[in-house]
Amino acid sequence: MMTLRKILLASAAMLVVVAGNAFAATANEEAMAERLKPYGTVCLVGDPCAEEVAGGGAAAGGGPRTGEEVFGKFCTACHGTGVLGAPKSGDASAWQARLDSHGGDFDALLQSAINGLNAMPPKGTCADCSDEELLNAIHHMSGL
Ligand code: HEC
Repeated sequence: MMTLRKILLASAAMLVVVAGNAFAATANEEAMAERLKPYGTVCLVGDPCAEEVAGGGAAAGGGPRTGEEVFGKFCTACHGTGVLGAPKSGDASAWQARLDSHGGDFDALLQSAINGLNAMPPKGTCADCSDEELLNAIHHMSGL
């Protein structure tokens, strides 16, 4: 009789240990899931969070994008290194020569950017850029 009681007690104690482990495992899994969570979130078209992203252009977040933003996203592909003979960003004399070729008319540079020029596609690939945003980018690249 005494032995049976001991066995029962021992089993009960083991159950407690096992249950405790299971609980700890769940807590660990939660912590691990938290750590493994992807960095940032994904917005799919139609999600409310996608609205902001879709706006993307001038209308989003208020105000036109800065020259630095537009340049960094669109123009740098060619103007960063001078691909296809593009005047390089920061190359003041190259940009001055461009300006001079238009008789000092800065607006003519903007017109080239809007319409495209030889190897440069219209709007320098920034299809949703406003004129003002293109102008900002030209100022940024040329330093003029
Ligand atoms: C695919 C490459 C490419 C991209 C992207 C590009 N450009 Fe250009 N860009 C060129 C090339 C090449 C020229 C020189 C064209 C020529 O004179 O034949 C040029 C010239 C220019 C000129 C001088 C035009 C003139 O009349 O002399 C301006 C201004 C300009 N780009 C603005 C921009 C802006 C702003 C962006 C970004 C929004 C941009 N470009 C993106 C290739 C590019």
